[in-house]
Amino acid sequence: MECPSQRQPAWWETGVIYQIYPRSFQDSDSDGVGDLAGIESRLDHLVRLGIDAIWLSPIYPSPMADFGYDVADYCDIDPIFGDLDGFDRLLAAVHARGLKLVLDFVPNHSSDQHPWFVESRASRDNPKRDWYIWRDPAPGGGPPNNWISDFGGSSWQRDAPTGQYYLHAFLKQQPDLNWRNPELRLAMMSVLRFWLDRGVDGFRMDVLWHIVKDASLRNNPINRDWTSDRTERDRLIQTYSTDQPDAHKIACDFRALADHYGDRVLIGEICLPNDRLVQWYGTAERPQVHLPVNFGLMETQWNASALRRMIADYEACLPAFGWPNWVIGSHDAPRIAARVGDSQARIAAMLLLTLRGTPTLYQGDEIGIGEVCIPRDRVRDPQDLRQPELGIGRDRSRTPIPWDDHEFAGFSTVDPWLPLNDDWRDRNVAMQSRNSDSILSLYQTLLSFRRSHPALTSGNLTLIDSADDVLAYERQHGDQRLLIAMNLSDQMRPLPLSSLDQKLAGTDVLVSTLRPVTGGDRPHDETLEPNEGLILKIYGQH
Ligand code: NOJ
Repeated sequence: MECPSQRQPAWWETGVIYQIYPRSFQDSDSDGVGDLAGIESRLDHLVRLGIDAIWLSPIYPSPMADFGYDVADYCDIDPIFGDLDGFDRLLAAVHARGLKLVLDFVPNHSSDQHPWFVESRASRDNPKRDWYIWRDPAPGGGPPNNWISDFGGSSWQRDAPTGQYYLHAFLKQQPDLNWRNPELRLAMMSVLRFWLDRGVDGFRMDVLWHIVKDASLRNNPINRDWTSDRTERDRLIQTYSTDQPDAHKIACDFRALADHYGDRVLIGEICLPNDRLVQWYGTAERPQVHLPVNFGLMETQWNASALRRMIADYEACLPAFGWPNWVIGSHDAPRIAARVGDSQARIAAMLLLTLRGTPTLYQGDEIGIGEVCIPRDRVRDPQDLRQPELGIGRDRSRTPIPWDDHEFAGFSTVDPWLPLNDDWRDRNVAMQSRNSDSILSLYQTLLSFRRSHPALTSGNLTLIDSADDVLAYERQHGDQRLLIAMNLSDQMRPLPLSSLDQKLAGTDVLVSTLRPVTGGDRPHDETLEPNEGLILKIYGQH
């Protein structure tokens, strides 16, 4: 693979990805659940926002035990979202606007309603038996090994008709596929071809580091550091159930297929420490996924020194040919504005869109949706229903987008499947579009600034020494030099200008998170206001 600096960067390197959670984007048929036609009707919001690519969470036929991450047919569309014709229309509409469309591919498990599993569980000698992971009970009875499901309880479910157990890393309605079976592998590669032939621009690959298991299914070691505020799954270290060498070979096969189609992207959902995460880039000769997802911003405490350390560590781990990426919200994690508050959510926007690498923006974060209280009788997330004591319910980041202040916020004409954010009458897309001080306007400014500044899309990054509570770095491309300085506190803090270099001739403020900057320049007194983030143009020599 060529070195990024010697070639035109790919769209997925310079572009910004926007995650749509289809159930909650826009309902077009008044059933309270979002759908493909609804997404199509709202594409202009994404164009105005200034993103480049859309990743759609799963839209395949599904009993929805895990809201689409339990796929019953990999090559069709769930009727709740539309049909294949509607998908083709959406894809054409996305492409007509110069955007890309990335689908969610769920390779680790199917639904227990998938015809493959229905066959597989029918008898021990069914031809598809080995497409899933079946084992006899342990000697003396009980599950074959000690593995724990991500959603709590054993990873094994006994199936009465044959007396064997099947493996499920998530819900029992999500049996794990057996990627050691060559026929299963071929069938799943055909699934990828089905969508690539239709014209999709790539895949986000769900829990990719899970897809292959230790061949002899050894017990996972006990995690001696486990504490009761952590999930039950974390009682064990997932040594044998995840991140197996053979999974990397399959990632190489995925990449070869994507490369064959050209200009497509593979984004791997992989939750591992940096040194193991970056293995999923593969090597320059045998590449794996383009973007192994970096969860650093979601996992790091919101303070300048912890973030600085995390950025430095991630950058240091990347292979020379590996392109970085960043994510700050998703349908699985608490909302960023709920985590850090309204003022710092604006800093988070600047951070996400100015670090080196591809950002992924989660729907609703552009209007700063914060904590949403889901009454217990409206909880839908299976993880929350199984483990309410952990308080890690995912519904609160999956609530519908409030588009305006009409009934049901313009999302639907009926009560939506999850409640809206409480403040939807004041916090909605229409209102924020009219307000140049809104977080939506800030996102638009940052996205358009980013698009027109190669220092941000492809320049290098140097972390700058700065005062406590200030996170600062320089981005540079050719003679374009930008200083990004963010105040993570609610007190005045100095701008770290003296750390830059001796020959600094001057700076201009180009973007502030606090208010629109007009006329390009703004006089400043070398301080950052409380909760202020600035992008400054630097004049000077290296
Ligand atoms: C990761 C997905 O993002 C999450 O929503 C899902 O529950 C699990 N994978 C299982 O597919």
